[in-house]
Amino acid sequence: MLLELRNLSVSYGKAVALENVSLRIDEGEFVAVLGPNGAGKSTLLKAISRSQPSTGTLTLRGQSLQGLPAHAVVGQGICHCPEGRRLFPELTVLKNLMLGAYLRRDASAVATDLKTVYSLFPILQERAEQVVSTLSGGQQQMVAIGRALMGKPSLLLLDEPSVGIAHRLKIEIFDAIKRIQQGGCAILMAEQDAQSALRIADRVYVLEHGQVGREGTSAELGADDYIRQAYLGVG
Ligand SMILES: Nc1ncnc2c1ncn2[C@@H]1O[C@H](COP(=O)(O)OP(=O)(O)OP(=O)(O)O)[C@@H](O)[C@H]1O
Ligand SMILES: [Mg+2]
Repeated sequence: MLLELRNLSVSYGKAVALENVSLRIDEGEFVAVLGPNGAGKSTLLKAISRSQPSTGTLTLRGQSLQGLPAHAVVGQGICHCPEGRRLFPELTVLKNLMLGAYLRRDASAVATDLKTVYSLFPILQERAEQVVSTLSGGQQQMVAIGRALMGKPSLLLLDEPSVGIAHRLKIEIFDAIKRIQQGGCAILMAEQDAQSALRIADRVYVLEHGQVGREGTSAELGADDYIRQAYLGVG
């Protein structure tokens, strides 16, 4: 097992955002988290990357992450591509990408990983010296994913990578994410596009009101009447 959460809870003041969430991700696995607005998806990813404190068990390969600062979690191989991308709009594509590698001292491996990012998203190589604020939303999302990859993750946390993106770029981004997994990186992806998530993920958790409602393989949930009605708009 790569990552394990047991009874993980997060509160914002008196408001409980996550309550006793238990979840696991195996090495190289692609897991999606579905759920409506406010369900706690972003909070879950923030708790895993330690950008939000939580209570309960949070372990990576059996070692607790609780107590570690967020930058140390990156050093352990968990890289977070956050909601809203959080790029530096006035810096170039290349500078934004390299910020993802700021903790690394393995320059030749960093150069190899930059080539991998460019092969996943060729447009980023063409636009390497362009400032990010002048890119389209979909291209900016590619920079955000690329920056997370520059941290050399064994687990990539993706927060709604397809939100607000034109259909064609969305397909390209999901294809690239699938290829990232095929390269050996596990993925935990929060996503509201249930159809796309069920198509590319191995397993799915459904978060509702801060708790895990349903979980199962993509095939199981794709055939589940409740999921079909509430998330796929069919049945
Ligand atoms: N910094 C914060 N302070 C107070 N409440 C917060 C904070 N961040 C999130 N919340 C609340 O916690 C709950 C879960 O929010 P979260 O952002 O995790 O949901 P989400 O599933 O990612 O939603 P969305 O699909 O809209 O991104 C919501 O009720 C939200 O209002
Ligand atoms: Mg969110």
